[in-house]
Amino acid sequence: MKPLNFRLFILFAFIALPSVVYGLKREKLSVQDSILYVSPFQDDNERCFKCHGQEKYEYTNESLGKQVKALLCSDRIVNRSEFYSANHKSFSCTDCHSEAYTKFPHPGELRMEMQYNCLDCHGGDEAFAIFSFEEIDAEYQQSVHFRLENEGFTCWKCHNPHSYKISRRNTTNLKETIQYDNNICLNCHSDFSRLQLMTESKEINLMEKHDWLPNQTSHFRSIRCIECHTKTNDSILISHFIVPKEDAIRGCNECHSKNSILMTSLYKFESKENRKDGFLNGIILNESYVIGANRNKYLNIISLSIFSIVILMIIIHILFRILKK
Ligand code: HEC
Ligand code: HEC
Ligand code: HEC
Ligand code: HEC
Ligand code: HEC
Ligand code: HEC
Ligand code: HEC
Repeated sequence: MKPLNFRLFILFAFIALPSVVYGLKREKLSVQDSILYVSPFQDDNERCFKCHGQEKYEYTNESLGKQVKALLCSDRIVNRSEFYSANHKSFSCTDCHSEAYTKFPHPGELRMEMQYNCLDCHGGDEAFAIFSFEEIDAEYQQSVHFRLENEGFTCWKCHNPHSYKISRRNTTNLKETIQYDNNICLNCHSDFSRLQLMTESKEINLMEKHDWLPNQTSHFRSIRCIECHTKTNDSILISHFIVPKEDAIRGCNECHSKNSILMTSLYKFESKENRKDGFLNGIILNESYVIGANRNKYLNIISLSIFSIVILMIIIHILFRILKK
């Protein structure tokens, strides 16, 4: 190899190697991500999943002395893969439910089974201090839904015990998080049969009620219900104080302005992190709320393009050298 070509080779190696190593590492990470969590209670839980894991279940009817097949209603089905990726994936079913459920038909008195609430386990626990459970509980108690507790409303109604997982705090895909969070509300507010369990009010059309908002579908994909329906609170990431409908945000300027409320709600996490790192100054931050989610994406695309152009130039350069020889 001629000295110049050798130098070019070294230069190329210097540029290319880190990206190959990085690429491999990412590959490994994403493979690890997709490996299913293995619960210490997997076998225990199968005692329940054999019936509750899908629609069809089977049991032996002792008085008839034969095997019976039947269908479970959808509310009683617990999805295995959702359960094993939820926050409480490391639990056994019988940590929260009575051991007596292993019998079938389930004993009648279990219908009156008491349920733990979040604070029973998380209250005053240092390990979960970052979530401020007590503060969330205090907000919930002021929220419009709290008056429905007598009708059966609890934290579990929004945090499905078998599938809830933290989203906003860990998100790598904001659109997905927005959809996840909105589905929590829509699970009731777009399903009248569920609402009926807790209220005598007549059915309303949610889309009509938000008619005043232009490009409704696009807005609902870019913001969450809680942006407009809660009072923001600096000390928790997700405000839980859902205000009466009259106090919901309607003004366009609340979001479409320099002092957008989104900086204290949807983008709170980023704005805090960024301020801490001094990565962007406050002014840019305040103006970039709408494209905020795309900020890194564009930076990534630009830096990737510069990188590929450099590589391309080097390759062309080497080719010319070889051809000239
Ligand atoms: C042989 C099938 C079968 C097995 C095994 C089974 N279940 Fe069930 N389970 C059902 C059916 C059917 C219902 C709905 C009818 C009823 O409430 O009895 C039900 C209802 C329930 C309910 C709701 C009760 C209510 O008050 O509405 C809970 C909670 C429950 N099961 C938990 C469990 C747990 C926990 C296990 C495992 C330890 C388990 N089940 C094992 C078939 C089964
Ligand atoms: C972290 C606690 C927890 C764990 C773990 C748990 N459950 Fe539940 N489960 C609950 C609570 C709380 C409810 C009542 C939900 C409500 O009120 O909306 C419930 C309700 C149910 C119901 C009745 C469905 C309904 O909507 O009323 C079934 C069936 C059930 N659980 C089965 C299971 C099975 C099977 C497992 C294990 C794979 C399991 N649960 C694990 C807390 C738990
Ligand atoms: C029976 C006790 C119990 C109940 C009830 C309970 N949790 Fe948990 N929760 C735990 C434990 C234990 C963990 C840690 C699980 C682990 O690390 O595998 C946990 C984990 C979590 C996490 C994840 C924390 C992290 O750092 O990843 C969140 C969020 C959470 N719970 C929220 C809730 C909410 C909201 C409720 C009520 C709707 C609730 N929990 C009810 C015991 C409970
Ligand atoms: C009206 C629906 C609703 C009710 C009721 C509700 N939550 Fe939430 N909660 C949410 C939503 C939406 C999120 C955002 C989920 C995400 O993106 O991580 C959330 C997030 C959380 C988080 C994670 C916050 C973080 O910093 O990452 C905790 C902890 C929590 N809720 C606890 C509770 C407790 C405790 C209660 C009852 C006192 C409760 N929630 C009642 C809707 C609700
Ligand atoms: C841009 C702000 C905004 C967003 C986003 C938003 N809402 Fe609203 N919402 C409002 C306002 C303002 C009202 C009051 C409308 C009125 O009184 O006519 C309202 C009314 C409501 C009502 C009461 C309807 C009634 O008259 O009983 C419900 C329920 C509701 N919204 C749920 C939701 C849900 C669920 C989502 C998410 C899918 C959502 N909202 C998203 C601003 C918003
Ligand atoms: C378990 C079902 C359920 C879930 C989940 C739920 N809601 Fe509700 N919500 C209700 C019921 C029931 C009412 C009372 C409706 C009535 O009486 O007209 C209500 C009322 C409301 C109202 C109107 C309050 C008023 O002043 O009349 C708003 C706004 C609202 N919910 C927003 C939300 C938001 C935002 C979320 C998600 C973070 C959410 N809800 C999740 C059941 C639910
Ligand atoms: C809760 C915050 C919030 C409120 C309130 C709000 N917007 Fe928006 N709006 C957004 C966000 C975020 C986007 C960015 C959508 C995207 O490009 O992802 C947006 C986008 C838009 C767009 C571009 C639509 C598109 O399809 O990309 C228009 C037009 C708009 N808003 C008008 C309004 C008007 C008019 C009002 C008042 C009636 C309003 N907005 C109220 C947050 C809000």
